[in-house]
Amino acid sequence: ENTPSTLIMIFGATGDLAKRKLFPSLYQLYLKGKMSNNFALLGVGRREWSHDRFKDHVRDSLQASSHSKEHIESFIEHCAYQSHDVSDSDSYIQLKNLANELDQQFELCGNRIFYLAMAPEFFGTITDHLKQDGLTDTKGFCRLVIEKPFGHDLASASALNEQIRKSFSEEQIYRIDHYLGKEMVQNIEVIRFANAIFEPQWNSRFISNIQITSSETLGVEERGRYYETSGALRDMVQNHMLQMVALLAMEPPIRLSTDEIRSEKVRVFRAMRPIEGTEVDDYFVRGQYAEGTVNGTDVDSYRNGENVDPTSNTETFVAGKVMIDNFRWAGVPFFIRTGKRMTVKSTKIVVQFKDIPMNLYYNKEHSLDPNLLVIHIQPDEGVTLHLNAKKTSQGIDTKPVKLSYSASSIDGINTPEAYEKLLYDCILGDATNFTHWDEVKHSWSFVDKISTHWESTTEESFPNYASGSMGPAKSDELLAQEGFEWWPIG
Ligand code: BG6
Repeated sequence: ENTPSTLIMIFGATGDLAKRKLFPSLYQLYLKGKMSNNFALLGVGRREWSHDRFKDHVRDSLQASSHSKEHIESFIEHCAYQSHDVSDSDSYIQLKNLANELDQQFELCGNRIFYLAMAPEFFGTITDHLKQDGLTDTKGFCRLVIEKPFGHDLASASALNEQIRKSFSEEQIYRIDHYLGKEMVQNIEVIRFANAIFEPQWNSRFISNIQITSSETLGVEERGRYYETSGALRDMVQNHMLQMVALLAMEPPIRLSTDEIRSEKVRVFRAMRPIEGTEVDDYFVRGQYAEGTVNGTDVDSYRNGENVDPTSNTETFVAGKVMIDNFRWAGVPFFIRTGKRMTVKSTKIVVQFKDIPMNLYYNKEHSLDPNLLVIHIQPDEGVTLHLNAKKTSQGIDTKPVKLSYSASSIDGINTPEAYEKLLYDCILGDATNFTHWDEVKHSWSFVDKISTHWESTTEESFPNYASGSMGPAKSDELLAQEGFEWWPIG
């Protein structure tokens, strides 16, 4: 086995992310033989838990999430817990001692992953202490994994980055964007660069527009406090949506190395047309959900949610037109759309090809549908190509046909959870599917201009879309003004 030995230290180990995603993902890796036997999982949290209390907690998480329960006990033997105060040096000394003991016991060669699965206001304090108190002073590798939000805007993200960089170099920092761990998001590059039929057409001469939708049915639920300071633009667009744009728009990297891929992505961010001031209204639409019905259940409006200001100006929906001003993409709109409390939970990319130069088959009854390449990110995973074929009858009538590949059903196995892949990459030291600071920087700079405009003007029409709908009417108008419409995604 080639997986390096490592200590995985999870800050925020009693929290929701650890329980729902991190423990189950590590266990899956363990079951698949992708973990070295020399590993330890050290949970760190404020609560005064014993090792056994923590092990019960991990056990509950694994029991609830895994079909195969056979190896749970042996996995749990690798777990330990330390209660901790993030701003107290003594607390870090205790942590270091325990880490060193585990290092001995499991022969971890001083390799350490520090995973900060907690509120970002503590990121800087923790990284300062990890260095000052000697936790990063080992003979093995040290890596830092951080969850979003990475800042609130460019200024706060830069400040945070500077602070973290005092203790960890850029190469040691793994910024999670869990969309980059999704199977079909990773597949975007493969579909583009491993198929002779797409890449020659992947430009403004053949593509009329690209649509990326990530819709959710859930509302903001119990996350009102966070969401009020965020909104859909910061929560989804700054990271996940723009990352998908970058993967769709990037030039082929000269090789599949981390640096080459990331630098091609950065070039896309650099080419994104900055939208500022009142111009924002021509390119971006914001929405906020009213009450309505989602999957047959009546639900309340955003403003009536827990910890939400009853006059809130926070957007729960964003649609926008992103223009990439480079040779390849001049004039091709990338339409993005994301929101809470929409009709379905789904993430899809639709690449719409231009109409053929002369349509021989057009008649008054029907025009030809354009060719579409649909990349299904979730819940189904696969690719569909929409073509036109002859209707089986007399004459030259055509009918739309679809060629589909469904990764989830044909490959027959559940594709691994995003976190499982990303954790594995981090253990192997592969940062390709994590966001580099340059990407974060450029995407904040793009998004800040939009939020500045939005925050300076109250959206009088809020709430402006019914829960269970596909967003406000203006989102459709955004495409209609260019002669397009959103392709159905249900
Ligand atoms: C997170 C956002 O980053 O992504 C959430 O903070 C959102 O608000 C989630 O619900 C969506 O992720 P997924 O994988 O369910 O599409």
